[in-house]
Amino acid sequence: MNPYLNIDHVSITFPTDKGPLNVLKDVNLNVAKGEFVSLIGHSGCGKSTVLNIVAGLLNATEGGVVLEGKEVDEPGPDRAVVFQNHSLLPWLSVYDNVRLAVDRVFKKTKSKAERDAWTRHNLELVHMDHALDRRPDEISGGMKQRVGIARALAMQPKVLLMDEPFGALDSLTRTHMQDSLMEIQSQLNNTVIMITHDVDEAVLLSDRIIMMTNGPSATVGEILHIDLPRPRDRLELAEDPTYNHYRAEVVKFLHERHERPKSKSKSTPPAAPKSDPEAEEAEPGSRHLRIAV
Ligand SMILES: Nc1ncnc2c1ncn2[C@@H]1O[C@H](COP(=O)(O)OP(=O)(O)O)[C@@H](O)[C@H]1O
Ligand SMILES: [Mg+2]
Repeated sequence: MNPYLNIDHVSITFPTDKGPLNVLKDVNLNVAKGEFVSLIGHSGCGKSTVLNIVAGLLNATEGGVVLEGKEVDEPGPDRAVVFQNHSLLPWLSVYDNVRLAVDRVFKKTKSKAERDAWTRHNLELVHMDHALDRRPDEISGGMKQRVGIARALAMQPKVLLMDEPFGALDSLTRTHMQDSLMEIQSQLNNTVIMITHDVDEAVLLSDRIIMMTNGPSATVGEILHIDLPRPRDRLELAEDPTYNHYRAEVVKFLHERHERPKSKSKSTPPAAPKSDPEAEEAEPGSRHLRIAV
């Protein structure tokens, strides 16, 4: 059986001042329809580059991406992207930001009334139907991300691509967003590739976690299947040995087998012992210690 999405022997080399930089080498990944996969790996290893190649924003130097039998060579509405920093148009209302995308994709196939109803429906899905007339600067960061997700979902993409979608949010808002995304996913069964820095987020949301090796020449290191029944409840899972085993596997991959590369810069002072500047603890003693990588 052909996979729904096939990332096939993808390598990419960028020209730089210091010569060619091989960022990805021989990345292979098949994603099934309706599957939720996360990409996790240290900062700078090439996660966004993988996503941008799938989005059609970058072209692989070797290999390519095939989605439902069609080779990807440019951006298209069948691959909607949600970025960390909401990319809403500031002069348009919440409704109009989503409506713009709906009009672009469904101009020929849906009537005006249908496009209006579809816009409202998608904003209801993310619980933003109470704020249709507000502008982006009148809503919170979490609400902006909700609108960004509604806009992406409203395009009915074959694949939803999310690049650290909740990375800029405070931990409570992030928790709500993760629960919303799981709820939406259970209704719509989207195919999703999400990049995350957050081990708990990856285990909670994913069917599989793709762990990437460090760059340069980064590739898929190990793949972890998350065999936990859905719907998933974060509080119950906090005590669940299987959940904690998966969590530990990701942490071991990132911090033992593929430790964060040390900075080569002489001007950088050595890091304080045991304190990773990017590792952040949610609450002291919390079982939900959030490990940023
Ligand atoms: N257009 C580009 N030209 C040169 N180098 C790039 C370009 N885009 C990304 N890179 C480099 O590729 C590496 C991976 O970047 P990125 O995919 O953004 O990493 P990640 O998302 O995992 O943090 C980094 O070293 C980055 O500097
Ligand atoms: Mg990135």
